[in-house]
Parts: sequence; structure tokens; C-alpha cells
Amino acid sequence: MRDVAVVGVGCTEFGERWSASFRDLFVTAGTLALEDAGISGERIDALYVGNMSAGRFIEQEHIGALIADFAGLATNHIPSTRVEAACASGGLAFRQAVIAVASGMEDVVVAAGVEKMTDVGTGVSVDTLAGAADREWEGFAGATFPGLYAMIATDYMHRYPLTREQLAEVAVKNHENGSKNPIAQFQNRITVDTVLSSSLVADPLRLFDCSPITDGAAAVVVVPLERAREFTDSPVRVLASAQASDTIALHDRRDISTLDATVAAGKRALERSRLTHRDIDLVEVHDCFTIAEICAIEDLGFCAKGEAGRLTAEGVTALGGDIPVNPSGGLKACGHPVGATGVKQICEVVTQIRGEAAGRQVDAEIGMTHNVGGTGATVVVHILGA
Ligand code: COA
Repeated sequence: MRDVAVVGVGCTEFGERWSASFRDLFVTAGTLALEDAGISGERIDALYVGNMSAGRFIEQEHIGALIADFAGLATNHIPSTRVEAACASGGLAFRQAVIAVASGMEDVVVAAGVEKMTDVGTGVSVDTLAGAADREWEGFAGATFPGLYAMIATDYMHRYPLTREQLAEVAVKNHENGSKNPIAQFQNRITVDTVLSSSLVADPLRLFDCSPITDGAAAVVVVPLERAREFTDSPVRVLASAQASDTIALHDRRDISTLDATVAAGKRALERSRLTHRDIDLVEVHDCFTIAEICAIEDLGFCAKGEAGRLTAEGVTALGGDIPVNPSGGLKACGHPVGATGVKQICEVVTQIRGEAAGRQVDAEIGMTHNVGGTGATVVVHILGA
């Protein structure tokens, strides 16, 4: 297997992008990534696109071909593949690109993610997202994603010492980081009181515990490490790629407060990179709800079970803390265009390692990304380093 590097990144602004179509979003992110790598489209050997549900959000299928066409690559006849794993579609698309380059099959591969969620109303988007859970056992019984994560939060708070205020601190920290990220959907600072006084969505989760509904796209260029200097002076190496799966329904899990797929993927990534937690300078985790960030920090092994709430409130996961978590603002403040999120996480870690993150810069040589599909039925973890 060959070593692999990221040599270009590009991200659209995330938010309610009513004047930009699905195609506009993808082409913008792709163009930014190619410009960053200093190449034109003819150099691309293959495309992998993370997208959860264009069929329901914009009534368009056959996304791989559509993207290649509107990127101006149809007549080059390159392979273009849609990758779907619910909210982990982007992370998994990146993993396919890494595997394609590492295997020697392709040399210059674009991994992208795109989702256009705001063309439908909240009811349709919440129901579409519910398709990432078990439709027969969870969706038909009325469970939405806020509802499922509310069950996790209730179970967690019953068993471990997490206060409602500590949970709110996750959102406060991520909005603080988002206020320093020009692509973030929400760039406003909030307080614990903002979270606690916001509308109840699914007890105990309130509006500000939830990631929003978002339009956006992200893209990265992946090449063999040995060729990376042809494209950039600051390549970022992929040190490990790991993926794990679990039962799709929560009721079949051994323990709903621990995402076993996160535990497995996190362990595999560290083993493959031969690194320990102490070597990781920042981590972008999948905070689709505040409780998800608490579970992620613990399940990835950055602290023991039951400690993440206290550590968050003490500032350990803030930009200046021992282990900065979600310097981008995470899904909470940056927004969560489900197919794009996993690739945006890669963009953020690459930007941080290059020292180009401006007001939200952390001291980073090595970073980790953690992308979750559903309530943890798919988890993808990557480690990248200078
Ligand atoms: N955090 C903070 N503010 C939010 C928000 C969020 N998550 N979602 C919406 N808002 C704000 C909007 O900006 C808007 O503010 P304004 O009135 O000042 O313009 C207001 O709340 C109402 O927005 P609206 O779009 O009508 O919200 P909604 O009630 O339709 O949707 C949720 C709110 C929580 C139901 C929706 O964001 C949601 O379902 N989130 C979870 C998404 C999800 O499950 N993702 C997959 C996870 S695996």
C-alpha cells in the first residue's frame, strides 16, 4: 500500500444557501480544492462523492454522474461514484479516495461531500434524516434523530455525572469556535442560559443542543505521498483510516450511551498510525447533538466514561485547552449538511495542520476526525499529520 496525502481543500459557506443549487455548491467546493492543489480538472483520475439523500431533498438521483457532468468532466469519462452512509457519507467518500490512491489504482482523486437540505420543510428533512435509523423499529414508532439522541442523553445522565449545564457548555464552546470560522452557519456566541432557555425539542435536548439543517459542500484532493510535492509545499499525510459498524437500531445495542463503533474505529485508527491519544493535537468529532460530543470524546478514549461533561465545563476541550475538540465550530455551529460534514472535518484538520486557521488556530501537527452515520451504525475515523 502507498502512503497518501491531501494536497488541496475547499469548502463552501455552510447555511441556508437559497440562492445556490446543489450543483453550484458542489462545483464551488471542487473548484476551491483544485485551485488549492494548483491543478485543473483534467488531472483528476476519479471522484468519490458523499451524499445522503439527494433523492428526497432535491428529487435527484445518479449523483456520481451528475457531479462529474457539472464539474465539466463528463467527456473525460472518469469514474465518479456516490458514497452513502447517512451522516457519515462524507467521511466514507474520503476513505474510498484514500483506498483508491493507497492501492495504486488511481493517482489524483477528489473526495467530496454535498447536501442541499433546505429546499424542503423541516418535516420532510427530519423524516428524511430518520431514514438513517431503523425505519421499521424506530422511524415508524415516531422516533426522530433528536428523539433517539434524547434517549441516549437520558440514559447517559441517569448513569454518569453529567449536568444539564455541562451539556450546554458543549454548544457554548462550539458557537464560540464557530464565531471564528467564516464558513460557519452560526457565527454568534451564546451562553449556557441561551441553551437552557431555548425551545425543548426532545427532552432533555433543546434547540441549541441540536445541529441545524444546512446546505453546503466540501472537497479535497488526494494523491500518493511520493508525488505530493508536485502539488503543494504543505501536504498533509493520511496516517490512518478506519471504519466500523454496529446495529442500526438503538434497542439492539449492548449499551446505548457508548457507541461501540466509535470505540472500534478509534482503536483501529490509533493502532494503524502507531500513535497514542497524547500525540493527537485536535479532534473534529460528530456533535450532531451535544450529547454526541460528550460520548465521542469518551468513546474515542480521550477521557474515561463520565468525565467529558466536567472536562468540557473546565475548558479542556476549548481552543486553548489540552485537547481542542471541534475548533471549526463542529456540526452545532458550522452546520451539518449531512453528506458534506465528513469532508469538511478533513478540510478543517488540514487547515489547522497547515497553520491557516486564523482566529481559531490551535498548535497542531496531528489531528483526528470522527464522522458518525445514524446513531453510530457507521463510524469513520481518520488521523492526519504534517
Ligand atoms: N441551533 C440554533 N438555532 C437554530 C437551530 C439550531 N440547531 N435550528 C434552527 N435554529 C434557529 C434558526 O436560525 C431560526 O432562527 P431565526 O428565527 O432567528 O431565524 C429559528 O431557530 C427557527 O428555525 P427553523 O429552521 O424554523 O427551525 P426548525 O424548528 O425548523 O428546526 C430543529 C429546528 C432542531 C428541529 C432542526 O434544526 C433539526 O431537526 N435539527 C437536527 C438535525 C439532525 O437530526 N441532523 C442529523 C443528525 S445525525
